[in-house]
Amino acid sequence: MNVLLLNGPNLNLLGDREPEIYGATTLADIERELTARAAESGARVECLQTNHEGEAIDRIHAARGSVDAIIINPAAWSHTSVALLDALNAFEGRVMEVHLSNVHKREAFRHHSYVSRRADGVIAGLGAFGYRAALDYLLDAAG
Ligand code: DQA
Repeated sequence: MNVLLLNGPNLNLLGDREPEIYGATTLADIERELTARAAESGARVECLQTNHEGEAIDRIHAARGSVDAIIINPAAWSHTSVALLDALNAFEGRVMEVHLSNVHKREAFRHHSYVSRRADGVIAGLGAFGYRAALDYLLDAAG
């Protein structure tokens, strides 16, 4: 199984940015953990973090036909991007949406996610553990 781990804008600052909301774990820690965890089950994780919406969309297009599932934290694009939703709608595999924080407990503008219309599962508020839970779900569903 090939999994794409896609992280959106500002998530390169994890560990440093608003740690009281997003925690102390860095994105490098998360990517390392998921890659190792997947390898134990014979799966592969490709990682991309980008601050550029077009790059994220191009990567989702490239995933068509070669990636089985996408774990995505769309960050602020969750709340703004129909283009990202359309790209995910063109992808045929499973989509897991992860948010480190519980977006429903925060500002009203974070309560709606375009990506959730496409996601097979949504995890919010579990911090970095949410990524692990998403991967375990995918490995379990595949096995
Ligand atoms: C986030 C929540 C979003 O509202 C925010 O814009 C982010 C991160 C989260 O992981 O909790 O950048 O997706």
